[in-house]
Amino acid sequence: MDLSTRYLGLALRNPLVASASPLSNTLDGVRRLAGAGVGAVVLFSLFEEQVRQEAERNARLADAGTDSFAESLSYFPADADADPGPRRYLSLLERAAGAVDIPVIASLNGVTPGGWASYAREMQDAGAAAIELNISYLPGDPHIAGREVEQRHIDILRRVKDAVSVPVAVKLSPYFSSAGEIALRLDEAGADGLVLFNRFLQPDIDPETLTVVPGIDLSSPAEARLPRTWIAILRGQVRACLAATTGVEGAADVVKYLLAGADVVMSASALIRHGPEHAAVLLDGLSEWMGRKGYSSVTELRGILAVPAGTDQAAYQRAGYVRTLRAADSALALW
Ligand SMILES: Cc1cc2nc3c(=O)[nH]c(=O)nc-3n(C[C@H](O)[C@H](O)[C@H](O)COP(=O)(O)O)c2cc1C
Repeated sequence: MDLSTRYLGLALRNPLVASASPLSNTLDGVRRLAGAGVGAVVLFSLFEEQVRQEAERNARLADAGTDSFAESLSYFPADADADPGPRRYLSLLERAAGAVDIPVIASLNGVTPGGWASYAREMQDAGAAAIELNISYLPGDPHIAGREVEQRHIDILRRVKDAVSVPVAVKLSPYFSSAGEIALRLDEAGADGLVLFNRFLQPDIDPETLTVVPGIDLSSPAEARLPRTWIAILRGQVRACLAATTGVEGAADVVKYLLAGADVVMSASALIRHGPEHAAVLLDGLSEWMGRKGYSSVTELRGILAVPAGTDQAAYQRAGYVRTLRAADSALALW
C-alpha cells in the first residue's frame, strides 16, 4: 500500500501528521509520535507572549497585552514556567529535528506583525522543516473591522515568507465572513499550506463556583464536518496544500478528509486520548480501507469527493441544505 504523500513540498511517508499539542512538548513525545508512524510532527506553538516574557525579563522591555492572551495561556505547556522563553523551544526543535527521520514542523503563535519574522528565522535555523503560523488572533475589541483582521493575516504571512526560505503554512480560524476568500488571499500571498481549522479553546462558566474556567475539551468527529466542507470546496481552487485538523478519532475520519481533498490529515485529540500509539491504529485502518476499496495509493483517492471545479457554490450548498431538511422531515415523519 503506497501511503506516501507530499505536503508543503516535503516528502512524507504517509498523510497522518501529529498536530501541535502537548504531546510534542518533549523530545520523548516527538520520538513516540515518530515511532508510532506519523508522517510528520508539528511541535506545540511558541507563543509570542512567551517571547515577550523572556524579553521582559532579560531586557525589561514591556509590551502591550493582547486580546488573545487569555486564550493563548490555556495552550501553554505545563512546564512553561520552568523556562517560558523561546530558548527551550528552539533547543527542543533542534534536538527533535536531529532525532527523528520525519519532518518536524515548528509552530509560531504571534499577535503583532513585528513579532513574527525573527522567531520564524530562528526556527528555520534550528532545523524546522517548515513553519506553521498559528494565527489565533481573536479581535476582542468589537470595533475592529473584519477586513483589518484579514489583512493582519496577510501581513504576517508576507513578513514570515520574506524572512525564511522553508515552506510556511497558515493555521486558520473558521471565523471569517468568507473563509474561502481569506484562503484564496493567503494562497495568493504565498502560503505553502493552509491548515483548516484552528480550534479555539473557549472558557466555560462553572455555576457552582461562579467562576470562569478555562476549557480544554478534546474534539469529537462531528466537528470535522466544517473543515471537511471547506477542504472539499477549496480543493482545486488553491495552489497551497490543504491540511485537515479537527475531529479525527478513527481511520474513517482520516479517509473522509482524504476523500474531501486534504493533502494531510492532522490529529491531536485522539492521540492525546488514546496515546501517540493510536497513530498506528489510524494508519492500519487507512490501509485496510484502501485494500478493501481497491486503492493502492492515497493519490488515487485524494479529493474524489471534493466539490467539482466550476460548481455553482451557492446552488451546491443550498441543494445540500434542502436535501438535509428533507431527510430530517422524513426522519421526523417516522416518529
Ligand atoms: C491540549 C491541546 C493543546 C493544543 N496546543 C496547540 C498549540 O500549541 N498550537 C496549535 O496550533 N494548536 C494547538 N492545539 C490544537 C490542535 O493542534 C488541533 O488543531 C485541534 O485540537 C484540532 O484537532 P483535533 O480534533 O485532532 O484535536 C492544541 C489542542 C489541544 C487539545
